[in-house]
Amino acid sequence: MASNLYKQKVLILDFGSQYTQLIARRVRETRVYCEIHPFNLRLEKIRAFSPKGIILSGGPSSIYDKDAPLADKRILDLKVPILGICYGMQFLTHLFGGVVAKSADREYGNAIITIKDDKDLFHGLEKADGQTVWMSHGDRIDRMPEGFEALAGSSNSPVAAMADKSRRHFGVQFHPEVAHTPEGPRILKNFLFRICGCEPSWTMSSFVRRTIKKLREKVGDDRVICGLSGGVDSSVTAVLLHRAIGKKLSCILVDNGLMRRGEAREVMELFQGYYGMDLHLVDESEHFLEQLKGVEDPEEKRKIIGREFIRVFEKKAKELGKAKYLAQGTLYPDVIESVSFKGPSATIKSHHNVGGLPDVMKLKLIEPLRELFKDEGRQVGLELDLPKEMVMRQPFPGPGLAVRILGEVTRERIEILRSADVIVLEEIRKAGLYEKVWQSFAVLLPVRTVGVMGDERTYENVIAVRVVDSLDAMTADWSRIPYEVMASISSRIINSVKGVNRVVYDISSKPPSTIEWE
Ligand code: XMP
Repeated sequence: MASNLYKQKVLILDFGSQYTQLIARRVRETRVYCEIHPFNLRLEKIRAFSPKGIILSGGPSSIYDKDAPLADKRILDLKVPILGICYGMQFLTHLFGGVVAKSADREYGNAIITIKDDKDLFHGLEKADGQTVWMSHGDRIDRMPEGFEALAGSSNSPVAAMADKSRRHFGVQFHPEVAHTPEGPRILKNFLFRICGCEPSWTMSSFVRRTIKKLREKVGDDRVICGLSGGVDSSVTAVLLHRAIGKKLSCILVDNGLMRRGEAREVMELFQGYYGMDLHLVDESEHFLEQLKGVEDPEEKRKIIGREFIRVFEKKAKELGKAKYLAQGTLYPDVIESVSFKGPSATIKSHHNVGGLPDVMKLKLIEPLRELFKDEGRQVGLELDLPKEMVMRQPFPGPGLAVRILGEVTRERIEILRSADVIVLEEIRKAGLYEKVWQSFAVLLPVRTVGVMGDERTYENVIAVRVVDSLDAMTADWSRIPYEVMASISSRIINSVKGVNRVVYDISSKPPSTIEWE
C-alpha cells in the first residue's frame, strides 16, 4: 500500500480500462504522485491513503450489468474531489440517481465537444472552437443527477462533461489521458492543481533523496544481495542501493554465455571499475551451454536457463556470506499487473527474470523501484549519473540470445548471432533510431538457404531482423525503418558474418505475433 512518504497522493480506482496505466502516467508527468488500486478498495484503506483527489477510470462494463464493478459509495462522503472518466462518470451518475442510457451507436474515435463552462476543469480551453477528444463508450448520460450541471456537450453525448461544483465531483465522457485528446494534459492538470490543490512535488531527485534515506534505515547493519544483469532496471536498483549502503551491497553477475558480445566485460568495467561496487562475475557459460545441448523447445530452454540461474545465483550468494535482503528491479507495471482489476495477465511465455528468485534463500525482498514506471526508473538512473547509453538501453530478455537462436543453441550459432546483433545495433544507432524504436535485434533461423558468392554456390544460415515500435511491449508494430538502413544492415551482415547468406525483415505485429521469436 501507499508509502506515506509522499504527502500529496492521488488515488486512481481501476474499473478495468485499458487506459488506467496511462492515467497514472499522465498524472505522474505533472509531478503528482498517484497509485492505481482495484475499484473495490476498502474504505478504510482509501481513508488511510488520504488522497488529495480520486480518479475513477473507465472500464468495459455497463453500469447496469449484473456484475458491474462498483466502488464503495461512501467515497462520495470523503469530501475529496473526484474525477470520473467514462465508466467512472457513469458510476457517479448512477450513484447520485441520474440516468445512464445505452447510446444508439457505440461512439468510438475522435469527437468534437463544445465547452460550456471554462472555469475550472476546462480552464484555459477555447470555448468558441470545438475541442477534439477521444470517445470510447457504449453508454451515455441521459439525465444528470441533481446538483450536477453540464460543462460540455457533443452531438452524440449532450453531457460530455458534468460537475457538481459544490462537492467537487466531475465527470467526463471522453478520455483525457490518451494522446488523441490534445488538451487532455491540461484538463488533468486543471483537476489536479486547480480542483484538488496538488502541487508538483513528485520529482525523481526527491525520490532518490527519500529512497536513499529509507534504504539506509531499513538495511541498518545488514547486507543486501542483488542480481545485476546490465539491464536498466537491475542497474538502477544496484546503483541506488550502492549510493545508500555502499559496501553492504554485493552484486552478482551471472554470465550464462547468452549475453551480447562484450556485455559481461562492459558491466564489470562500469559497476566494479567505475562505481567501485562489490560485484562478482560468475562465468558459467560453459555450464549453461552444456545444459542446453540438444534442446530445441523454447519453453524448455527458458526453464533450463531459469533453473540454472537460480542454482548458480544461490551458490554464489551463500559463498558471499549471510545477507538479509535480496534486491530486485521490480517496476510499478509489474506490481499493478498482479493486484489490479484484471488480475495477473495470462502467461504466454514464462519470463524468467531475477524476478522469480528463490524463496528457499529466505531473503527479504527490497524493491526500491516498485513505485516507478519505466521512464521514471530511467530518470532515476540519470539522477544517479548512470551513463545515458546504459539508461536508455532497449529491453533484453533474461534468457538472452537463447530465445533468438531458433532450434538448438550451440557455441557456433551464438557467435554467428552475436556478430549479426552487433551490426544491427550499430546501424540502428547510426541512423539515430536506437532510442526511437522499442527493440531492434537479430534472430538466427534454423534453416539454411541457397546463395551464390563469387562463382560458388553457398548453402548457409538466414538472419531475421526484428525492429518494433511499442509503448509497453504488450502490443507492438514492426518499425517502418528506412530501406537504406535495411540495406546497410543486410549487406554488412552478408558480407562480414561468416555462415550467413540471407537476411530478412520481420513485418509482423504483436498480436498475433510476439516481439521475440521464441
Ligand atoms: P514477447 O516476445 O512476449 O516479449 O512479445 C515482450 C517483451 O518481453 C521481453 N521478453 C523477455 N524478458 N525474459 C525477459 O526478461 C524472457 O524470457 C522474455 N521473453 C520476452 C521481450 O524482449 C520484449 O521486450
